[in-house]
Amino acid sequence: MTDVPSGTPISTNYLIRIPEVFAPWTPEILAACRIPGGPSARSVTPLGPEYSLLKMPALPSPEAPAAAPDPITGTAAAPFISWHLPIHHSWPCHPPKMENFIEKAARTLHRKFAAANPQSIQIGPLHAGAPDRYYKSLASNLRGRTLQLFPARQGPQSAEEQNPNLPTLFCLVGKEGLFAGLQTPRLANGFHPGGTKFVSQGAAGTISRAGAKIAEALHYLLLHRPALPEGSHWLELGASPGGMTSELLNRHFRVTALDRAALDPRLNKAPGLTFAKADVATWTPPPATRYDALLCDMNGEPRQALRQVIRLASFLRPGALLVFTLKTPGASTFQAISEAIRLTLRDASQANLTLIALTHLTYNRQEFTCFFET
Ligand SMILES: C[S@@+](CC[C@H](N)C(=O)[O-])C[C@H]1O[C@@H](n2cnc3c(N)ncnc32)[C@H](O)[C@@H]1O
Repeated sequence: MTDVPSGTPISTNYLIRIPEVFAPWTPEILAACRIPGGPSARSVTPLGPEYSLLKMPALPSPEAPAAAPDPITGTAAAPFISWHLPIHHSWPCHPPKMENFIEKAARTLHRKFAAANPQSIQIGPLHAGAPDRYYKSLASNLRGRTLQLFPARQGPQSAEEQNPNLPTLFCLVGKEGLFAGLQTPRLANGFHPGGTKFVSQGAAGTISRAGAKIAEALHYLLLHRPALPEGSHWLELGASPGGMTSELLNRHFRVTALDRAALDPRLNKAPGLTFAKADVATWTPPPATRYDALLCDMNGEPRQALRQVIRLASFLRPGALLVFTLKTPGASTFQAISEAIRLTLRDASQANLTLIALTHLTYNRQEFTCFFET
């Protein structure tokens, strides 16, 4: 492998993560990965259930590695790839069989990346959900040793405290070896190696599994804008039974929640909550109301749900945040899902909603989470 490029040429290898729910469309997703106007991948190596290593044809670029165009961002493949990293160093090996793996790997990471002065070093396992914890602890021990070798500096304390726009050294380890690269968290699409913070779902007392989705979405959003202040007022469409509502209330937001169905009785009299049992299509807030944010997790056709969001967006403050679950019920091909995304985003853009990000979160099924601003 070459050293971290100091300007040229850009990396030609990419580690990409395709969530298992999209596995049936892997060939179409891979075919859609290309720098605009450039050729598609020369080869693809699957690395476990979710990751693949793409080898792209070399293209000279005068840009810094973290700013160089990549073959995912802006393509039809992007919504289906939850995280990706240009690979500047790889070591295909079987770590348990390597003598002194941690020491050798840490020294190599230091030799190759110290001069680039990454803001932070983030190392994780290639198979995040594997029941065997071997690689999780290997990743953690490798990170500990690598941090000792890098020059002492005042780095971010937690992954979410990283500057989303400064290069981080990301590294993943698994039974296929070690894969490392420099990328900004925003361009990689997550602060953590492989994606967003793991938010556990269904802990005792959780009202619905959707709660973890908004918790993860709020972590993810820090890639793009600062957190909303406590006390901010959310309008929530399609709130029942209230998993997301309770997550918002736990963060000391105020919530006006709407649903045709009732909320879980545990939310009765919850401070900060106003609930209206109503059809969103016929509900209108008091005229002077201005919300700071809108959350929509209504089921059904995404363009129909978005129509209500657009109607109610006139009750949002300028610059307000919108979090919208773009569901694709009934779409059973890559083309059909891509078309549903395209049409929904076109409607949003025509209604002057600015798309900040569209991503697939850990707990999204065949659906995406979109973030807009008014
Ligand atoms: C996936 S569930 C929402 C789960 C919820 N976000 C949670 O955290 O528990 C979708 C909800 O949208 C509601 N819904 C769909 N269309 C609606 C409409 N036109 N008016 C009111 N509620 C609607 C359904 O009643 C259903 O409760």
